[in-house]
Amino acid sequence: MIITTNQLFEQAYGKYAIGAYNINNAEQTMGLFRGCLDSKAPFIIQISKGARNYTNKLMLESMIRAADQIFPDAVFAVHLDHGDEAACYDCIKSGFYSSVMIDASHEDFEGNIATTKRVVDAAHAKGISVEAELGQLGGVEEDIQVSEDKAHLTDPIQAAEFIERTGCDSLACAIGTSHGAFKFAGSQGLHFEVVEAIQKLKPGYPLVMHGSSSVPQDEVERINAAGGALKGAKGVDANQYLPAAKLGVCKINIDTDGRLVWTRVHREFFRDKPEVFDFRPIGIVFMDEYAKFIASRNVLLGSAGHLDEVRASIK
Ligand code: G3H
Ligand code: 13P
Ligand code: ZN
Repeated sequence: MIITTNQLFEQAYGKYAIGAYNINNAEQTMGLFRGCLDSKAPFIIQISKGARNYTNKLMLESMIRAADQIFPDAVFAVHLDHGDEAACYDCIKSGFYSSVMIDASHEDFEGNIATTKRVVDAAHAKGISVEAELGQLGGVEEDIQVSEDKAHLTDPIQAAEFIERTGCDSLACAIGTSHGAFKFAGSQGLHFEVVEAIQKLKPGYPLVMHGSSSVPQDEVERINAAGGALKGAKGVDANQYLPAAKLGVCKINIDTDGRLVWTRVHREFFRDKPEVFDFRPIGIVFMDEYAKFIASRNVLLGSAGHLDEVRASIK
């Protein structure tokens, strides 16, 4: 069942975080739904601009519709990840998305406000909610690359003004994370004081944490042992997900970790079975491993076990 992102946030706020997982293909979609059902967790399925262009946006939308039928017990929202204005309008027009993210964080404060406000007006007219971003994470997202020293944390006073002036429904704030598999190259960790300060000014307002993959070290070691070259890869401490959620972070974005599961499974499989050249045996291993990974993340996010309660809350 597809529900609104706001409905998920209302249930989760202050108690647990909803996992927001990116999908690109059918195997990821199957693993995601199975992992969320195995752990009885509501979730957000998110599609980036790159994912929409990888095969075709209609392909991903059709896969999600199909998964909704294959797994009628699943409860989830569909979200555009890191959209520009054109992608947001396209998703709003499609009527399929529960929410869109307008990422104008590379613009100056006034520019970000103006762009976000235009998207909020268009989205709200269609009953769709909007995530915006203020501050800059490090790493790569879509075609924009920001080095960690150029990234800057969200200013809480600006955040409160931004929320009031744009009317956005949730805010992605930069609190020290970065996208990709090489986080915290410098010294910094997570800046929960930024989350606390925003919550003081805007109590009850849902915040979003991007760049939240934990880059499990055993995964990295297995990838490297099977021919990979991910030396020094590092992520967020997954034991920080729940403390963040209790402070008002309702949505935690995890994409890179899924790519690591995919890489480990494929590297090991083809190393150990060089005679195989078939899609399906490896696809089956990946779907199982991805489902297990997703279920383990939902436990850490605290969303595991909340599926029935969320379903019951939907009139
Ligand atoms: O923040 C970016 C997400 O991890 C999506 O990555 O743009 O390569 O699909 P992508
Ligand atoms: P990771 O690269 O840490 O998985 O972050 C994903 C993300 O923020 C998607 O928007
Ligand atoms: Zn992101």
